[in-house]
Amino acid sequence: MDAYYATTPIYYVNAKPHLGHAYTTIVADAMRRFHRLMGEETYFLTGTDEHGDKIVKAADANGQSPQEYVDQISALFQEMLPQIAAEPDDFIRTTQKRHVACVQRILQKVYDAGDIYFGEYGGHYCYGCERFYTEKELEDGKCPQHGVKPEWIAEKNYFFKMSKYRDWLLKHIEKHPDFIRPEGYRNEVVSLLESGELEDLCISRPKSRLSWGIELPFDKDYVCYVWFDALINYLSAVGYPDSPKFKEFWPAVNHFVAKDILKPHAVFWPTMLKAAGVEPYQHLNVHGYWLVDETKMSKSLGNVVSPMDMLGKYGLASFRYFLLREMSFGMDASFSESALIGRHNADLANDLGNLFNRSLAMTHKYFNGKIPAPGEEGVEDIEIKKLGREAMANYQTFFRDLKYSRALESLWELVRGLNRYIDATAPWALFKNGETARLSSVLYTVLEHLRKVAVHLWPVMPHASVEMLGQIGASFDPEKIVLTKELDIWGVLASGVEVASSSNLFPRIDMPEVSVAAEKGKPASKKKAASEKKKKNAPAAAEVEFSDFQKLEMRLGKILEACSHPDADKLLVLKVDLGEERPRQVVAGLAAYYKPEDLPGQDVVAVVNLAPRKIRGEVSEAMLLTAQAKGRVMLLTAPGELPAGAKIA
Ligand code: ME8
Ligand code: MG
Repeated sequence: MDAYYATTPIYYVNAKPHLGHAYTTIVADAMRRFHRLMGEETYFLTGTDEHGDKIVKAADANGQSPQEYVDQISALFQEMLPQIAAEPDDFIRTTQKRHVACVQRILQKVYDAGDIYFGEYGGHYCYGCERFYTEKELEDGKCPQHGVKPEWIAEKNYFFKMSKYRDWLLKHIEKHPDFIRPEGYRNEVVSLLESGELEDLCISRPKSRLSWGIELPFDKDYVCYVWFDALINYLSAVGYPDSPKFKEFWPAVNHFVAKDILKPHAVFWPTMLKAAGVEPYQHLNVHGYWLVDETKMSKSLGNVVSPMDMLGKYGLASFRYFLLREMSFGMDASFSESALIGRHNADLANDLGNLFNRSLAMTHKYFNGKIPAPGEEGVEDIEIKKLGREAMANYQTFFRDLKYSRALESLWELVRGLNRYIDATAPWALFKNGETARLSSVLYTVLEHLRKVAVHLWPVMPHASVEMLGQIGASFDPEKIVLTKELDIWGVLASGVEVASSSNLFPRIDMPEVSVAAEKGKPASKKKAASEKKKKNAPAAAEVEFSDFQKLEMRLGKILEACSHPDADKLLVLKVDLGEERPRQVVAGLAAYYKPEDLPGQDVVAVVNLAPRKIRGEVSEAMLLTAQAKGRVMLLTAPGELPAGAKIA
């Protein structure tokens, strides 16, 4: 049986967990659940990194001893796990005996092999990163992660001959192109290695300066450098060198980290393993940063989002779904509550929630709440099964390849396909005409597909998945499910079993209101004339950097539908094709200038990466560009030769 071992970084206990920590932990948890459903033997590890200068400083600032302090913060990380539905098999702390023993064992082994030497060294030390930087790595003399000037430290220390393994590492990466992935990070590491000599790694700290660490087995005046200590957690947790767990799960290990700790994981760690005679890990999976207002969310910058707050406000399923759906693994992504609400409402409340609600309601209305027997296959049934098979196959491929966002997009093709299938087969008409056999087939087809969707969602939203399955009378046992088989099996749901009378897993969330007055495109009025005058004297808009302009994503679109806003006579509600799988809804202040019936077919220019917002009760997911003068407002249009979705640059 294939083995799969997922790890998160062990987090520093110098502050409580934030959204970034929750994200990596959720990804690793989702991945282990996914591989479990692929029929593999899985293991999932997380934990806390408790040694080093940084921790001592934080403990001091808190007026506590290091041990008291690390116990308290490590507990916060452990308490977060059930709340984000992360179920690791083990939680390692670097202050545990088993870890200390393992680190000393490896230090001794590498020392005995002659790869550790004693020498004098001076370097730029960043306490935030707990590492030395070379002159070249600094930006304006500052640490590129923390933006602070590092301290110059010169002292006698022990060094690991990392430089010796440079060529080996380059070759290993060449031979295993997905050793570090996605590719961008692999290239970064390759060019770092190719750009010059790889330095040796300082792996000790004199106790006179820092005593909170693991003592070197060959010199009691020194403790081990925190990174050399921390990386070894991945081995100590599975009982290196002779526990059965180690033999089963090493080297089938998948490390999940963000790009801030790329170098320790991509360079220090494999060379350490090599020197210790341990096979390198299988994959290093590197993701980007969650940003808040365009800057990295980090405890040192103090702009963190608390995962607990988000869970309290929006619930577990929406939170996990959003994190996996919104970030393309490897790239940075912006976190905002309005984007979370937008995703929740569009994908979960509208698409998935409605599908569940209407299916359960119809089962009750037409079959007393009992799952009907499947009957003969109609044309539509063959089509939806084909679509479903493709959607699930894509989901599985993308998920395995870390493309969670695209995986979910694929699964939603099935969700939306099912909504269309219901509209096309019109069960209400079948019922009215007494076509009971066909009606049974149609409802069975929907319910069995819902089962498949719910099963596929278990890695993403485990609790909601089990709940959805319960609502359609299916039990869930991860040991019995094999995702790949779901592509072909049919008829798992038992007929005659009662379904829940309703499903309210994803109720809509109200978007914070945006005032209509703030919208562009107010109709001509006296006020308007006055403001026009004022504008003449108004200072020109502030200059912006080109990079600010580049943040806007604009695309060509085509208006598909237009109607008046139910609640505001200046607004129109449009459906606009932007070259995506689903048209977007746009609320625009155009009612005074365009009749709804004239708009379908019109090419437009849209800004597509504004956070969605609610305008008078309707969600707007893009902004259309207009030209405005002399009391007129005209939609900007396009040459007409390029398709909807074409990029504007
Ligand atoms: O580096 N976006 O611990 P750490 C996404 N102890 N992920 C983020 C993030 C953000 N804005 N901020 C943090 C350490 N993370 C070492 C690791 S491993 C042997 C030792 C996540 O507490 C992400 O996983 O600084 C990142 O790599 C990690 O937290 C850094 O956690
Ligand atoms: Mg950090």
